[in-house]
Amino acid sequence: MSTTAVHPAGIKPPEQPLPLFRLLRTVADNPVKAWPRALYRERLYRSCVLGRESVYVMAPDLIRTVLVDDADNFEKGELARRALGAALGDAILIADGSRWRWQRRAVAGIFREQRIREFLPAMIASAERTRDRWCGLPESSEINVAHEMMRTTFDIILSTMLPERTGIDLDVMQRAITDYLEPTAWIVALAMIGAPSWVPYPGIYRARRARKQLHRMLGSLIARAEQAPSDRHDLLWLLANATDPETRQSMNAIDVRNNLLTFITAGHETTALALTWTFYLLSLHPNIERRVKAEIAAVTGGGPVHPEHIDALAYTNQVIQEAMRLYPPAALIVRGARRDVELENERILAGTTVYVPVYAVHRHEKLWCDANQFDPRRFEPGAVKMRDRYSYLPFGAGPRVCIGQSFAQREAIAVLATLLSSCQLRLRPGHIPEPRLRATLRPTGGLPMRITTDSACPSAHQFS
Ligand code: HEM
Repeated sequence: MSTTAVHPAGIKPPEQPLPLFRLLRTVADNPVKAWPRALYRERLYRSCVLGRESVYVMAPDLIRTVLVDDADNFEKGELARRALGAALGDAILIADGSRWRWQRRAVAGIFREQRIREFLPAMIASAERTRDRWCGLPESSEINVAHEMMRTTFDIILSTMLPERTGIDLDVMQRAITDYLEPTAWIVALAMIGAPSWVPYPGIYRARRARKQLHRMLGSLIARAEQAPSDRHDLLWLLANATDPETRQSMNAIDVRNNLLTFITAGHETTALALTWTFYLLSLHPNIERRVKAEIAAVTGGGPVHPEHIDALAYTNQVIQEAMRLYPPAALIVRGARRDVELENERILAGTTVYVPVYAVHRHEKLWCDANQFDPRRFEPGAVKMRDRYSYLPFGAGPRVCIGQSFAQREAIAVLATLLSSCQLRLRPGHIPEPRLRATLRPTGGLPMRITTDSACPSAHQFS
């Protein structure tokens, strides 16, 4: 199926499980580098570190059992709470049972198809602001596309879901999110050896400061919104007005704040990474980039991107899906067994951490031909139909499937189409962006790219 012999950046897995100290050092640096070759070959893999078992599940039928059919037996679990609980509390991403259910129901309204369509103009407008900024740069300037995409998707999440004039500074928030997430790999490493959660790790004090800063920022956003109430039924309004059908209680201020923080982080960083990796892959494959540009030109007639164009950009969508196969922004899904269960005739004891290593599933030898090659033809409708649904999981699956999936897909197409219509990006020669897992899959060293704008690039003053 390969279109070309270019090898996009990846991770060479160790042939054998790593010895203990190397394992811990590697996990703390980049957990994906510690995953042995077996994860890319086997159906299920058991790992035992100092007597503590964890299980990796790669076969689509077993993934379906864990995430869908038997989802009640696999909760978000201790590890997710340990890594993210301090910042996100018991908000939608890590809550379980009835607490999760009513939070999910409370925000469902903002993710309905009709609502997402209403967001499209704001998504395109944000992408146009990025394009205009780029068009104002001297020719061949170098930009960090990873940062640029974070800026763009952050702008989108604020302008679609949050009260107007949030007063949040992206750079400050981004720094705090990075500082908070940076030591999460240490948390995973320590949990692997059964260290209690009070054991300190490198970066812990910076992460605590970052968490307090994030909470302060969100606290003042909420306070400002209370002083200037609006009739826009945004996410904050939905959260503040939600009632638990079982207890009839509404969310307290901390629940509202934690959920807002969850949506801001989960809702911009992942899409930004999907776009970043897409730009990287397109710069390695100019023939595919040409085809995307041709599709955009054909659909838009060479004019600006409009909301009605988004769903017609089928090949552009295939390219983004294939980018998320090679570089799934959420590269690892984690669960904890709630009770003793059987999986593949193997007994899994209550409390065992169960991983769905999405990055490895997406490059699994038995599931994908030429797995490390970029080939958007894999997402032609006929090819998708032939594949097991659970071999491709950028948004997860089952009841905890990403609530923002449809939002993110439209957003990624809108941003890519708007930017590609007038700009071309080329990777800094020699730069290899190794994928590094920090809750999300980020390119090491960012993504430095040189930008050229073409004649279609409108000058900034035309848009002011
Ligand atoms: C390309 C972009 C995105 C990717 C790859 C992605 C991926 C995921 C994945 C894999 C999960 C499931 C995690 C699990 O099962 O443990 C998830 C959950 C979630 N995502 Fe996304 N996401 C994206 C965009 C978004 C957006 C745009 C939003 C909101 C605006 C969002 C909000 C959430 C929330 C709130 C959850 C928790 C849902 C629950 O537990 O009920 N995500 N996401």
